Amino acid sequence: MKILMVCLGNICRSPLAEGIMKHKAAEHGLDWHIDSAGTGSWHSGQLPDRRSIAIARQKGVDITDQRARQFHTGDFEQFDMIFVMDTQNLSDVLRLAATPAHREKVALILDQTSPGQRLSVPDPYYDDNGFEEVFNMLDEACHHFIQRHI
Ligand code: 4NP
Repeated sequence: MKILMVCLGNICRSPLAEGIMKHKAAEHGLDWHIDSAGTGSWHSGQLPDRRSIAIARQKGVDITDQRARQFHTGDFEQFDMIFVMDTQNLSDVLRLAATPAHREKVALILDQTSPGQRLSVPDPYYDDNGFEEVFNMLDEACHHFIQRHI
């Protein structure tokens, strides 16, 4: 299974989603390939936000090997699943999809816990206190996905 996590900047939410899914896949002995990207390019090459690094570390997940990159259309071929964090990411990524097969790979990550509700992971960039809630939402979503695929 090859999974790409996508948000806007690839420094706050999707690095956490990548780190959490990698951690859980390793715990279950799953040889999955997991990566993340941003729809925007402003932060390309940067480490995750220090607040994402801190909450992940507190929960036992190291995300300091990650560097931000922008989503590109080749990702539709490279990955089996493309999980987006919010409804804006969903429309931005779907706009780049050239085929129905590509579109079918894209889903809101919170559909794993609340199917059909179109829920977004809140952008914590301007909210220092939002990071733990984001971590917990992503942890639950990744847990549900893994349980369905082991
Ligand atoms: P992310 O959060 O999409 O979860 O990485 C953001 C990071 C940076 C910005 C916005 C959202 N920004 O505007 O620079």
